[in-house]
Amino acid sequence: MCGIVGYVGPNSSVTVLLGGLSRLQYRGYDSAGIAVLGTDGVLETRKHAGKLQVLIDDVDALPLIDGQTGIGHTRWATHGGPTDANAHPHLGDDGKLALIHNGIIENFAPLKQELLDAGETFTSDTDSEVAAILVGRAFRESGDLTLAMRQVVARLEGAFTLLIVHQDRPGEVVGARRISPLVIGLGDGENFLGSDVAAFVEHTRRAVEIGDDQIVTIRPDSVEVTDFAGKAVETREYEIAWDASASEKGGWSSFMRKEISEEPDAVYNTLLGRVVDGAVAFPDLGGLTDEVLGSIDRIVIIACGTAAYAGMLGKYAIEAWARIPVEVTLSHEFRYSGPILNDRTLVISVSQSGETIDTLMAVKYAKVEGARGLSICNTQGSSIPRESDAVIYTHAGPEVAVASTKAFVAQITALYLFGLHLAAVRGSLSAAQLTRNVEELQAIPAKIAEVLVASEGIGQLAGWMADTRSVLFLGRHVGYPIALEGALKLKELAYIHAEGFAAGELKHGPIALIEPGQIVFVIVPSPRDPSSLHSKVVSNIQEIRARGARVIAIAEKGDAAVLPYADEVIPIPLAAPFFEPLLAVVPLHIFALELATAKGLDVDQPRNLAKSVTVE
Ligand code: M6R
Repeated sequence: MCGIVGYVGPNSSVTVLLGGLSRLQYRGYDSAGIAVLGTDGVLETRKHAGKLQVLIDDVDALPLIDGQTGIGHTRWATHGGPTDANAHPHLGDDGKLALIHNGIIENFAPLKQELLDAGETFTSDTDSEVAAILVGRAFRESGDLTLAMRQVVARLEGAFTLLIVHQDRPGEVVGARRISPLVIGLGDGENFLGSDVAAFVEHTRRAVEIGDDQIVTIRPDSVEVTDFAGKAVETREYEIAWDASASEKGGWSSFMRKEISEEPDAVYNTLLGRVVDGAVAFPDLGGLTDEVLGSIDRIVIIACGTAAYAGMLGKYAIEAWARIPVEVTLSHEFRYSGPILNDRTLVISVSQSGETIDTLMAVKYAKVEGARGLSICNTQGSSIPRESDAVIYTHAGPEVAVASTKAFVAQITALYLFGLHLAAVRGSLSAAQLTRNVEELQAIPAKIAEVLVASEGIGQLAGWMADTRSVLFLGRHVGYPIALEGALKLKELAYIHAEGFAAGELKHGPIALIEPGQIVFVIVPSPRDPSSLHSKVVSNIQEIRARGARVIAIAEKGDAAVLPYADEVIPIPLAAPFFEPLLAVVPLHIFALELATAKGLDVDQPRNLAKSVTVE
């Protein structure tokens, strides 16, 4: 969950590292620190609890040496609270070596005991300091930083990325990766390391993937990658598809506000090039050829959080269109439930970051069990696509706010596209049905843009509700995942109790929560929906109104049946039932943003969270 950056080159490493950390802050913001190495062999570190700005202010007030080698870290605390002492870097070899770490060293306790027995002392409660002291001791023996790293990683268990610098090795940063992410940025006479490309995209668009159990040594004019045994490995260079400005706030008050405004583009760009002559076209689904897809008899979608709600919508659509049974499982539950998998099972992972460790481990598990793997991912060069037979990239652009918004609509779009592709391959929809659905999808960006305009009053609504302590969300069928998404956003951003229910479940218990004044958002299906869901949901509204609930309905424009029973109606444009969620979710994203703003909270970096969950 932590953000990591490393630099060697002719420029001021303080500037490069702080710039990189400011782009990586979404990975964790409990503390931040940097270590800088001057050419004269002086190593200086500075670290502070709190957000990066505390460190920046301190460095401004009392500048560090202007070294050309360095490492930087922004932390999401696991072992040890968010204090100055637990902030990274940690030191080894009598303060001559600095180390930063992302992940968890699971066997740190026996290693720490061994070091204590050997007379070492510790200044933090972290698992990471064990690695710093171990590498320091190994370096003292050999004077070879890469070798020292190799010797130590062989003793570590868990998931980790480590970066080290040593004052006797100016112009050198050594990194190691097991499961946790690390990428190389290639510059001209300078090189970079980062948890993701955001760390260095300001300086270079050339990136190189590093695989699991690999060690990298960067110098200003060389990059060496080996496996943990020291054998050179081949790497793959790629060009970063977005530039630095895509991850700038660009005049918006928050990244989240900017990213919600980009929801139409996220859908549009995910469709781009994938619809040809009215039909879905996936020219490159790797190992998932039409023949393989024809043999699939079951699909399991794995994901966490918001991505899992996109997965639920994928299930409804794929089952309806391709007539294949689909299950949705939270990634962290998946491998522990002993899933029955074989080469006729397709496991679809959905992840914005491509680094969520629960999903990554589930994907690896499914691969070992022989299942086919498709990744739906927003981040080029990330780990999950590497472990999959094929990837459909969502082209939402970099998502920086911790709360996922534009990636969600892009994930639904990608899942729907895949569902239609599968239906075409399996012949389960007629050409006319396929075309109709593709056209519905293509109409979505303009309709979301309409919803954005129509949602301008939500700020006022949220302002009135700033003191509310609980909000409920109801939906049915494709409205149900949207109810869950609305509730999750409110929990993570506004820190209030929020729950989403399938409206049909109401009378089985949750209706007991309704008391006068309880705010309930209801996602109302279209009255044109051939199922009878619309009238059933309108009945649900009446039931909760009769008990004093204050109802805010998200309903199709012109839905007169809802008006008499709702306190507020947020209208959305007409769309076929499967496509309504792409519209209904937008006001809920805005509501969560506005309520958190009305409460004076930080919408981009909510408390206790990090954008990429890279520890289990
Ligand atoms: O990067 P991923 O899509 O795998 O992340 C999954 C969840 O951690 C993520 O959607 C999380 O629930 C968001 N904070 C929700 O807004």
